[in-house]
Amino acid sequence: MSDLQEQEIVVKVKRFNKEKGDWWQEYKLKVDRFTQMTEVLRRIKTEQDPTLAYRASCHMAVCGSCGMKINGEPRLACKTLALDMVKKYGKNEITLEPMDYFPVIKDLIVDWDNFYERMFKVKPRLYPSKEVLEGKAEHRLKPEDQRELWKFEQCIWCGLCVSACPSVRNDPDFLGPAAHAKGYRFLADPRDTIYEERLKILIDSSWRCTYCYQCFNVCPRDVEPVTTIKKTRAHTKFLTNKTPVANTGEKHIESIVKSIEDTGKIEEAKVYISTYGLVTTIKDMIYAMQNGKLKYALISEAKVKNIDQIRKIIGEEK
Ligand code: SF4
Ligand code: SF4
Ligand code: FES
Repeated sequence: MSDLQEQEIVVKVKRFNKEKGDWWQEYKLKVDRFTQMTEVLRRIKTEQDPTLAYRASCHMAVCGSCGMKINGEPRLACKTLALDMVKKYGKNEITLEPMDYFPVIKDLIVDWDNFYERMFKVKPRLYPSKEVLEGKAEHRLKPEDQRELWKFEQCIWCGLCVSACPSVRNDPDFLGPAAHAKGYRFLADPRDTIYEERLKILIDSSWRCTYCYQCFNVCPRDVEPVTTIKKTRAHTKFLTNKTPVANTGEKHIESIVKSIEDTGKIEEAKVYISTYGLVTTIKDMIYAMQNGKLKYALISEAKVKNIDQIRKIIGEEK
């Protein structure tokens, strides 16, 4: 097949409006090797159905407005070629749905208010010194600092990571992956002057992430929000008056390191007891027993040989 040879595809869109609720609607059109999903939507809207609602602007993965679920995957429509999806799923049918978690306004258009509230909670801009603001000093970013921050500056506020994050749905006190990426970008910026304030905003929330890596998988700009959360946690020691969640998180890490130093492995049961205390552990064990999971917690593992070498590595890291 030459690059421009066309192929017919079926596009099924999950539509919604307040009056009718949601329903699936099917469209057929021909696409070629270069047809982006935003172009598919544009052609459906202009040639077949002007009532279809979606957002897109830049068509080049910059504005962050075309996030949606394509064949169930959170993706940017403009960064997705129709025939790549046909090839990946082995069928000429592509489904389009609004992003999860965000309230739907109409068809593929979602409400961004909650997302922006989270982003603005982390004060998403640089707060330079008074001298810099008055033009009396210049604060240059060193190349090594720029290298540290570069990846995390690439966020386009598309919301895909938030739509995929299980912790955002279950924990109202978790700021979410995009806000953490933005927050860390400024927490680690040596030109910023509100480090303490940022610690107070970010640390408790950073311990509420479950490290499921969904945000890492779906981000179209390789921002790695989960990496910024890990890096933010490393600043916990600089915060005074930590919340119980942050205290437990720190205790958990200390228990894991101690377990590896002692045995070369993570002994789950011991780590659990030293993190949560005996009373909580007993309660949770009863729950695990009732659900047939206790055997997984009590697995006894063989001792690691040459443990001195592991201790040496941990010593070097410390
Ligand atoms: S790794 Fe954390 S922030 Fe990322 S999707 Fe999972 S819970 Fe959310
Ligand atoms: S971190 Fe990635 S997925 Fe999340 S909003 Fe920014 S660009 Fe989108
Ligand atoms: S249209 Fe701008 S990111 Fe897709």
